[in-house]
Amino acid sequence: MKRDFLDLSSVSSSELRGLLQLATRLKSELKNGMEHPYLRGRTLAMIFQKPSLRTRLTFETGMAQLGGHAIYLAPDDIGIGERESVKDVARNLSRWVDLIMIRTFSHATCVEMAREASVPVINGLTDLLHPCQIVGDLQTLSERYQDLRMLRVAFVGDGFNLAHSWIEAAALLHFELRVACPAGYEPDKHFLARLQREPRCLLTNDPLEAVKDADVVYTDTWTSMGQERETGKRQRDFRNFQVNGNLLQRARPRAIVMHCLPAHRGEEITDEVLDGPQSVVLEQAENRLHAQKAIMLWLLRPSVLTADTRPDTGQE
Ligand code: CP
Ligand code: NVA
Repeated sequence: MKRDFLDLSSVSSSELRGLLQLATRLKSELKNGMEHPYLRGRTLAMIFQKPSLRTRLTFETGMAQLGGHAIYLAPDDIGIGERESVKDVARNLSRWVDLIMIRTFSHATCVEMAREASVPVINGLTDLLHPCQIVGDLQTLSERYQDLRMLRVAFVGDGFNLAHSWIEAAALLHFELRVACPAGYEPDKHFLARLQREPRCLLTNDPLEAVKDADVVYTDTWTSMGQERETGKRQRDFRNFQVNGNLLQRARPRAIVMHCLPAHRGEEITDEVLDGPQSVVLEQAENRLHAQKAIMLWLLRPSVLTADTRPDTGQE
């Protein structure tokens, strides 16, 4: 049966650890000039209904590095759900390509795509979740810290897609997670219930409480893609949730600052913090490449996850 990568909840802790190990291995091998055409002759279709820099570039580059090919479909190219139903797009694509990545608004569209496609589908961000981002972020943490269970992670901002994916990650890897959102911007009720079930997770409306003694301070935009009309209201509602030097002083002295990017400088994060010595945002962006190569291999050539490093011919 084919697998998809739509969320972290359908991945086991050991599978997630395997993905992180493979991502780090691929990264160091790439730096040592080793080539792995594990996906020679394979094609990835990338459907984007929202803009992207990192997700597009890292999937396309990753596929090229693995010997395969990626096709970018811009928001107006195929008119998914308007010119043609999700089901028809999924069933056509499945006849031509080996893998589909979709960035869309409603998570239900992503789930429908996976249900109708006979090839694996990857969630490249929905309004509910951004699992590829979190795998890259967990890789960044696992390259810096021996045992993620020892960490206190503070998520400061909107209880939206990134916060939901962090809640899934905490449930799998058992680090401490403190989510601080303004009233009215808490996570969706399903994820809120999950957070409340986790003994080491906490929800608060006070960013100072979340960040106190944190090892990791994470933030995201106050206005996600698709919410642009609410920008003014959100700037007011989130004004006490800026990650700035003052807030960062509450964290541990060696705490790191993370952001999925794109950042709205001067809103959710100051220049001083984003460009400062505690920021690891470019490491996170870099790791998207390696994490997604690992995800694509997990879906298309799972044996690579356990294989030793050896020259590869592109054949299973
Ligand atoms: N973090 C992230 O997904 O970036 P893009 O929106 O540029 O793809
Ligand atoms: N929450 C943001 C994440 C961007 C990568 C958004 O959905 O726009």
